[in-house]
Amino acid sequence: MSIQNIARDLVASGKGILAADESNGTANKRFEALSIPQTFEMRRRWRELLFTTLGIETGISGVILYDETIRQRSDDGIYLSKLLYDKGILVGIKVDEGTDNLPNFPGEKITKGLDNLEERLYEYKEMGASFTKWRAVISIGEDLPTNEAIEANAYLLSQYSALSQKVGLVPIVEPEVLMEGSHSMARCKEVTENAHKILFEYLKKYRVDLSGLILKSNMVLPGKDSDEKVSPKDVAEATLSVFKNAVPHDVPGIVFLSGGQSAIDATLNLNEIAKMGPQPWEVTFSYSRALQSPVMEVWRGNDVNAERAQEVFKMRIKETVAASGGKYQGK
Ligand code: 13P
Repeated sequence: MSIQNIARDLVASGKGILAADESNGTANKRFEALSIPQTFEMRRRWRELLFTTLGIETGISGVILYDETIRQRSDDGIYLSKLLYDKGILVGIKVDEGTDNLPNFPGEKITKGLDNLEERLYEYKEMGASFTKWRAVISIGEDLPTNEAIEANAYLLSQYSALSQKVGLVPIVEPEVLMEGSHSMARCKEVTENAHKILFEYLKKYRVDLSGLILKSNMVLPGKDSDEKVSPKDVAEATLSVFKNAVPHDVPGIVFLSGGQSAIDATLNLNEIAKMGPQPWEVTFSYSRALQSPVMEVWRGNDVNAERAQEVFKMRIKETVAASGGKYQGK
């Protein structure tokens, strides 16, 4: 399948992406909070629970995996990635290797993973992957972010994208503006727009084919510690304004991360964004926490709760898909 077709399938109307690509460190942190043992086996069981939930393919176009997971098998000895593939769900893989401090830029991060990337991409393709993800993080602070940090990450995102496309994999480029801090929504808007503009400048400069790429963006929100009250309509207007100003129309789709918003906020905000459509790009979700957290709270590492957890997962997908079409009815 061409990268253009993969990209279009990923953002097909009525569907979205499940991000299940938490690194072991991040997965363990989520487990720890619920006193779930932080082991290879528990991470495997958790992902198996998610992927074997009946009917998820009606609302999930693709699942992003982590390196450990793409090599793991189900209780029945089937690769977890094959469980997805057999449901017609596209398999994706996180290929960045986390972040390091950016030297000389206190408080700013650079994403690692370009070394040997091409070899790894060929291996993942062989293992059934059709798309990839690379996450850069951008922090808002007193004098942050700097353009230098945004540019360094945009350069890396462009190289990662070019290599993914060379191998026939669709890159999901994720410059995540973090919610940490007490900044205003206006500041988040300004930073997100600048980050997206710089990113597309680099993607174009390095000749990345924008028609075979997906943008993964944060929503425009006030910082977690800010007292500012905003409505889903405010969030939707600010977020779409950024996209209108910064995202070229040849990009087939934009997907959202949930970024630490509650499941309900991520749903209400997405719903409001969708209600303002149609847009020049497909717009949908690529959530981890907003889809998984309520499910994990029911499971708590105990298989006795697995069936109930899967019911909650089905409901979260149904609600999020409804929101992606502007049809969510909940409060
Ligand atoms: P959250 O939805 O939990 O923000 O995760 C999405 C993601 O893939 C971040 O890289």
